[in-house]
Amino acid sequence: MHAAVVDDFRTPPAYREVTLPEPQEGQVPVDVVAAALHPRVRSQADGSHYTSTDALPLVPGVDGVGRDPEGVLRYFVLPGTAWGSMAERTLVDPARSAPLPDGVDPVVVAAAMNPAMSSWLALTRRVERTAGARVLVLGATGSAGRLAVQVAKRLGAAHVTAAGRNREELERLPALGADAVIALSDEPDAVRAGLAAAGRDLDVVLDYVWGGTTATALRAVVPARREDDRLLTWVQIGSVGGLESPIPSAALRAMNLRLVGSGQGSVAPSDVVAELPAIATEITTGGYDVRARAVPLRDVRAAWTASTDDRLVLVP
Ligand SMILES: NC(=O)c1ccc[n+]([C@@H]2O[C@H](COP(=O)([O-])OP(=O)(O)OC[C@H]3O[C@@H](n4cnc5c(N)ncnc54)[C@H](OP(=O)(O)O)[C@@H]3O)[C@@H](O)[C@H]2O)c1
Repeated sequence: MHAAVVDDFRTPPAYREVTLPEPQEGQVPVDVVAAALHPRVRSQADGSHYTSTDALPLVPGVDGVGRDPEGVLRYFVLPGTAWGSMAERTLVDPARSAPLPDGVDPVVVAAAMNPAMSSWLALTRRVERTAGARVLVLGATGSAGRLAVQVAKRLGAAHVTAAGRNREELERLPALGADAVIALSDEPDAVRAGLAAAGRDLDVVLDYVWGGTTATALRAVVPARREDDRLLTWVQIGSVGGLESPIPSAALRAMNLRLVGSGQGSVAPSDVVAELPAIATEITTGGYDVRARAVPLRDVRAAWTASTDDRLVLVP
């Protein structure tokens, strides 16, 4: 059988012949139907993810849609170690999967589950209450941020502000549920004013950007709070703007700020598994705006370097 294989962290994966390892206890072989190229997969394949080890070669892919030995179509998550989902077959723990209804588009499910999960888990597992909350999505123009706007509304958020630097994408977000937008590409004074206005009564931030943007946002929000002791839960989810952020110390003293993360490690695997069926149902029935494009697995190397806003999904 064939798979995408990373032999060197500096080079995109190659499509080549491999042998599926023997299943370990609790694993079943699954025919992969679709596996998406998420940022998480890129960081697995270049060795930069915080869970990465130096072990090579590896087959990339942290999740996917596949058909199990009983013929059931399932969405599955993988630990992100040596054998991933970008292969004709992979090994899945059925307990870390959710069956999918007949007739769903596996490419859309593979594309949307990982980015949708980022906000779903944050809002259901890392935040005290989403219903009625005022939410800021920082970095709202990517796959995960766009879905975060929709998921927050779906989970009952009273008001969602979407902040992003791509103006064209930002303008599409009110139609997906955003009540207000902030263009991070505007002049710094305008950005600060927008963040301060949003920050007055904010309850939750879903932060996909981090880096200097987060520090700027906190500097704008702290003096703007209407009630300093109102809880603001700031959830660190992504880091497209930088892996580190110079958080102002006053932010933690001058307001009731709770800084938490949401991701592999901070959300218990049992909690992820518990939410999978609900997220799969959402994706397949919720009418979410998902931009997905199928690419043959054999073209994995070209897919790696393609420039596109669509979430590419490798199809064996
Ligand atoms: N913790 C989790 O559970 C979890 C799950 C999924 C994803 N993530 C993380 O979330 C982040 C986004 O993932 P994704 O799937 O949405 O990726 P994506 O579809 O590639 O989107 C990334 C977006 O970030 C924008 N961007 C890049 N640099 C920016 C900056 N400095 N300021 C503002 N926006 C910037 C880009 O927009 P423009 O270039 O057009 O401005 C792009 O639209 C990644 O860091 C990913 O690893 C975390």
